[in-house]
This record gives sequence, structure tokens and C-alpha cells, in this order.
Amino acid sequence: MKQMAHFGRDDVSIRMEGERPLGGRIRIQGSKNAALPILAACMLIPGECVLRGCPDISDIECMFNLLESTGAKTSRTADQVKIDTGSVREYRLPEKYVSAMRSSVVLMGAMLGRLGEVHVNYPGGCVIGERPIDLHLYGLEKLGAQIWIDGNHIHAYADELRGATVTFPFPSVGATQNVIMAAVTARGTTVIKNAAKEPEIIELCRFLNMAGADIDYSGTLLKTGRIVIRGVELSRLCGVVYDVIPDRIVAGTYLFAALAAGGEITLENIPIRQLDSICDTIRRMGAMLTVRAAQNEVTINACDRDRIVNVPYIETEVYPDFPTDLQSPLLVAACAAKGKLVVREKIFSSRFRIVEELQRMGADITVEGDTAVVTGGRKLEGRTVIARELRGGAALVIAGLCAAGITTVADSGFIRRGYQDIVGDFTQLGARIGYVG
Ligand code: UD1
Repeated sequence: MKQMAHFGRDDVSIRMEGERPLGGRIRIQGSKNAALPILAACMLIPGECVLRGCPDISDIECMFNLLESTGAKTSRTADQVKIDTGSVREYRLPEKYVSAMRSSVVLMGAMLGRLGEVHVNYPGGCVIGERPIDLHLYGLEKLGAQIWIDGNHIHAYADELRGATVTFPFPSVGATQNVIMAAVTARGTTVIKNAAKEPEIIELCRFLNMAGADIDYSGTLLKTGRIVIRGVELSRLCGVVYDVIPDRIVAGTYLFAALAAGGEITLENIPIRQLDSICDTIRRMGAMLTVRAAQNEVTINACDRDRIVNVPYIETEVYPDFPTDLQSPLLVAACAAKGKLVVREKIFSSRFRIVEELQRMGADITVEGDTAVVTGGRKLEGRTVIARELRGGAALVIAGLCAAGITTVADSGFIRRGYQDIVGDFTQLGARIGYVG
């Protein structure tokens, strides 16, 4: 795969003319957060795996680079990728890719299972707040890994991983994924208590079971937060063809875009059962939603602007409640709605970075600690603003679609980490939008 010089910052900006309602239909891309851990899980499988519908985004490219650095072979055709980890040997992951993407840390469990050893640098802090990995390390140590931390470097080693009971104090998505992967070929049975329940966890288990793992999650996970993994021999795992589920966060982003900018749009290929809390919020804010479950389609109608109002309070929470990844798009939709919304961010400490940019566009938002108060109904004005992270960057594009005049969102590389073609999608929905620079 071609190497990217950077993941995030770049010189390309997105420029748009706002105040045009959206209309039309688009197809939702495959899920980034499902595909990334599944690509890491390919490490455990000594044959070739094919992922159909894998999104073409820079975080996936970063994961390919990490896999290739260990000796794996990767290739991409139009909408599928192939990963062959038959010749994996290298246990040291290059710092430039690990630092570029937090989720590279989920390679630890898979590499311990495959090679018995992994060497990574500490991914460190992040613009959306502290993102420690203590729960990842705790889980891997419970399975018998020995871990040394030397400054910025982490070295994990295990002669043999052994099943254990891992009880998480918080249901971390990444830590749950890491322990699942380490447990697949461990000797004996692992029980994860208070595991994360996100759909991406279920997909990882489903993929690994297709490849020959023995993971019991269905029925128990959503009710009890419990996952049971019975270790199997590495040689029992074999390559599979897997279809990546659609991206619930991208679908939610476009629903909030229509809510904010107005108009009527239809989204195809949506994971409707994963969107309950989002659809509920959007309906309560006055838009009409028509769901055609059999076709995996939803239509949002937000044409009648008098009906679009804020709800009093929303807090972000773990699945199935309102996702932190859609908090920024929600803030922008709240700016366009009448009345006041109080948003409490309970997952990541610094996820209000876009507020400053929205204030420069004329938004009435105040932030105190983990809580933002948005007073909607004030017209936003086009400005040059800077995308500093993925979801906040997409939300600034939505703000530009609502604002009077021209908005330029600089550093659009952050948006390419998770959105395959945000400019193409909004163009298809009738927006006047393009790349500059
Ligand atoms: C994943 C998603 C991300 C989403 C997040 C929460 C991927 C690639 N990323 O991130 O888009 O926003 O879930 O739904 O799937 N924590 C600790 N110690 C740890 C690990 C986490 O304290 O060892 C804390 C974090 O600081 C954060 C919270 O737990 O406050 C949630 O993190 P986690 O669930 O681990 O999210 P990620 O897996 O990083």
C-alpha cells in the first residue's frame, strides 16, 4: 500500500457555501471502528482474510502500514481488502504509525497471541482528552503477559498466555478488544466481566468465530456485559471472507447534517438497529424519520424549520446510549434548532475543542467542565476554521453547510481518517462544496 506522509494535518481545506437545504440519497460506507480491530485480528490468522466493504480512509491505511511492517501482505481492490499474515515475523511496531493512530494499540493482544511478543511506543495523550491504556495493560497482564514500560516504550512478552477472569472497572472498547484477541489462543478459558457492548465488539467476536475461535457473547453480552473465550490452537484458525458492517457514526453524522442544514435525504446501507438513541434524539428535535428496515434505509425530513427544537439535556454514554463520537455533530445541530440544549460529555474529557471555532462562526455556546450549553437559533456566519480532530472536523463541515456565506475548514486530513468521501457525499446531496489548496 502507498505510504502516507501524515495522518491528520494536511494542506487541503474544504470550502463550502452554506444555507442550502440538502436533498437526495447516499450510501453509507463500511465501519471504521469495526474494520480496524478486525484487521488487527487478522494477525492471529495464519491464512488470507478478505474484508468486503472496508472503508477507504487514512486510519485503515495506517493499519495496513502497521500490518505490513510486521511482514504481512495487504492489497486493496475497489471495495475489498486482502490481508495475508502468513509471513509475519516482526514484533516491533514503527513509532510513526503507532503515534498516528490510537487504535494501533489493539494490535498488542493479537501480536502476543501470534508471536508471543510485541514492542510498541506509548500512544500518549490525544486532542480529545486523556486516553490512558492502563485497562489494556491490566487485561493482558491478567492473561500472563509480562509488561515492561521504559519511558515511551512498552514491551510485552508471554511464553504462554493463560485464560483468566478479567473484570474491567470501566467497559473500555479498545481494552475489551485487546483481551478478546489475546484470549483466543490462550490456554484455557477467559471470562471478561463488564466488557464493552458496542456493536464493534460483537463484530470482532463474530469475525473471530468465523475464523475458528470459540467465543460466547451472543445473548450474554448485552444483558450481563460478559464474554467467555475458550482458547483454541493457533493452527485451528483459518482465513475467512467477511462483510464489514455499515458505519453507525457516519450515518449519524449525515442525519445531524440534515437536521442542521434542513432538507430531506435518504441514507442507504444503514445499521438501523444500532441507531436507536440517535434516531430518538433526532425525532425529539422535531425531524421526521421514515425507516425502511427491510431495505436498510432511512429518510430524514427536516424541511419545516419551525419544528426543529432543542431537547433540554443529552449526555454521552457507552452503547446503547448517545455516542461520544456524535457529540460534535449534535452541538452543530443544536445551534440550528430553537431553544437551549445542555450536553454533558461523560466519555472523553476534552471533546469540546470545536466550540471555539463554532463561537467564531457566531454560535452561542458556553462550556464549563464536562458540560456545554448551546442556545440555538442564532445564524452562523461563514469563517475559516480548523479541523483539529476527526469528528469535530466533520461537525465543522456541517456548520459550514448551515452558515451564511463561505466557510473553509482547514486541515481536512483529520476528516479523511474516518470519512471516505465527505465532499463527494455532500455534493451528491446538493451542497456547494469542494476541496481547495
Ligand atoms: C473507541 C472508538 C472511539 C469511541 C470510543 C468510545 C475505535 C477505533 N475507537 O475508542 O471512536 O469514541 O471507543 O465509544 O473503536 N480508558 C481508560 N483506560 C484505558 C482505556 C480507556 O481510562 O486503558 C478511558 C478513556 O480515557 C475514555 C474511556 O475509557 O475516557 C473510553 O475509552 P475506550 O472505550 O477505551 O475508547 P477507545 O477504544 O479508545
